[in-house]
Amino acid sequence: MKKIFISALVALCGFTASYAQEASFLSNNHCLYRISQESQNQKCLLLPVQENAEIANIKVIANNKQVKALNVKLAKDHVDYFVPLYMDEFAGLKGLALDIHVNGDYSKEGLNALTCWKEMKFSDAFDMKNREQYRPDYHHTPAYGWMNDPNGMFYKDGVWNLYFQYNPYGSQWENMTWGHSTSTDLVHWKFQGTPIQPDAVGTIFSGSAVVDKNNTSGFGKDAVVALYTSAAENQTQSMAYSTDNGKTFTKYAGNPILTSNVPDFRDPHMFWNEDIKKWNMILAAGQHMEIYTSDNLKDWKLESSFGEKYGNHGGVWECPDLMKLKVRGTDKEKWMLICNINPGGPFGGSATQYFIGDFDGHKFTCESKPEVTKWMDYGKDHYATVTFDNAPEGRRVAIAWMSNWQYANQVPTQQYRSGNSIPRDLGLFEYKGETYCSVIPSPEMTAARSKKAGKKLSESCEMVVNLKGNATITLSNDKGEKVVMSYDAKAETFSMDRTKSGKMDFSKDFAATTKAPTYGKISQLRIFIDKSSIEALDADGKMAMTNLVFPSKSYNKVTVKGKGKYQIYDIK
Ligand code: FRU
Repeated sequence: MKKIFISALVALCGFTASYAQEASFLSNNHCLYRISQESQNQKCLLLPVQENAEIANIKVIANNKQVKALNVKLAKDHVDYFVPLYMDEFAGLKGLALDIHVNGDYSKEGLNALTCWKEMKFSDAFDMKNREQYRPDYHHTPAYGWMNDPNGMFYKDGVWNLYFQYNPYGSQWENMTWGHSTSTDLVHWKFQGTPIQPDAVGTIFSGSAVVDKNNTSGFGKDAVVALYTSAAENQTQSMAYSTDNGKTFTKYAGNPILTSNVPDFRDPHMFWNEDIKKWNMILAAGQHMEIYTSDNLKDWKLESSFGEKYGNHGGVWECPDLMKLKVRGTDKEKWMLICNINPGGPFGGSATQYFIGDFDGHKFTCESKPEVTKWMDYGKDHYATVTFDNAPEGRRVAIAWMSNWQYANQVPTQQYRSGNSIPRDLGLFEYKGETYCSVIPSPEMTAARSKKAGKKLSESCEMVVNLKGNATITLSNDKGEKVVMSYDAKAETFSMDRTKSGKMDFSKDFAATTKAPTYGKISQLRIFIDKSSIEALDADGKMAMTNLVFPSKSYNKVTVKGKGKYQIYDIK
């Protein structure tokens, strides 16, 4: 058995870091890494990550009992970045050690030759200062680590709560945990920690949260109740509740509360249905949705399923939502069922489709013909869209994950991966006998505009284009990189070409021109540009398109040809 003793003091990024631990190699794949009491008193252990290395399965043990498990791509021959394992999680525990199984064949060089053992270090701080050229300014992103779907979003007492699929131990998908951020204006977000972490039932996949105003669950008046998928050998649904406005959660002792033999059984979305005075829940099962009712959020009764032969079935159905909306300009109300699908999107990979119809609290009936497919956003980077519970004034505010499973793990950022879309208010409008979802930038986006508008393109701004007919809008830089957007008034289409937009070599699926129907004329386009994202929306809500771009230098030139006049606002 080889042992490496390391004891030194080094300065790291201006912080004091000390090595004081012992790595024992038990085999070519297995290392026991003991943590001294002195090291445990530091804030965190910095784990060195190399994104193309094999996963290491780490068990944190204390006195020979497992207290946590995580998977990290520990550095093999170089370090891409560090992630912190915070020691306060293990406060008071004795005999702390990491039991590390590194996948791969190290029989020749020996496991002790890996770079990670020299680079693992304890520190009194973790530097979260932004290092990324492509990090958006006014979109929500995690300070570090990977993010996918928005989860459990709710509004309460003036605060918008956004949870999200999060990997705190690397910037690629792994270790699914609910991260949490809050905002009072839907534009500026503050990270609040990781309140729902993996447990013996599974890792924590997507789900929803509601404010239980009448204490139907017995967890207390106004308790926040979350339902999420526990992902292990099977996918099951589990529950957690919070009595401090969503800051911390207690897992329900009876978890899991809902099981199935369907392998893809996930992403429960609950809401109070005043029409039947019960809770409803919709969840994705393979390629259809299941609809449930409950009186207490704990016991759920399967009522019906929806989806066979309806809409797009090019992939797995995921992340549903179901809501009643007014049809603009009428006194009608209809129900909209949101169904995110991956793959199967209009331009490949993931996208958000929806169905319009009726819902009696038990069964959803789609009003369109089964072959009709409706997309909420015609870009490539708009997925896992769901809405906030309990939003004020009956608003339906949606947020999407701004990426695509085709390349989300490879986009050219490392400190973090993925941001969310701007918030959008959903509604319904009619066009040629069909009802569609209207998607309008939330009023908070208008409130965030600078007072004065100008003509100068900045890397984080909103460009407003008033249209009287066909127009071509080009954003470019002096490297010859550009994004070309075209509105064709007669054909009633809008397109965005990112095939020369900048970095694209990370995926063959990235270069694309996306095209949307505009369901009538567009008289004002609102284009939200934020370092590496472009969201083009019809101000009237009839068209939305979200695409990522990675220009090697920010676009600093804008031209509008044809019948369009523009002005640009900074976003505060
Ligand atoms: C959608 C999704 C969900 C799942 C989660 C896992 O992007 O696949 O269905 O709950 O991501 O992170």
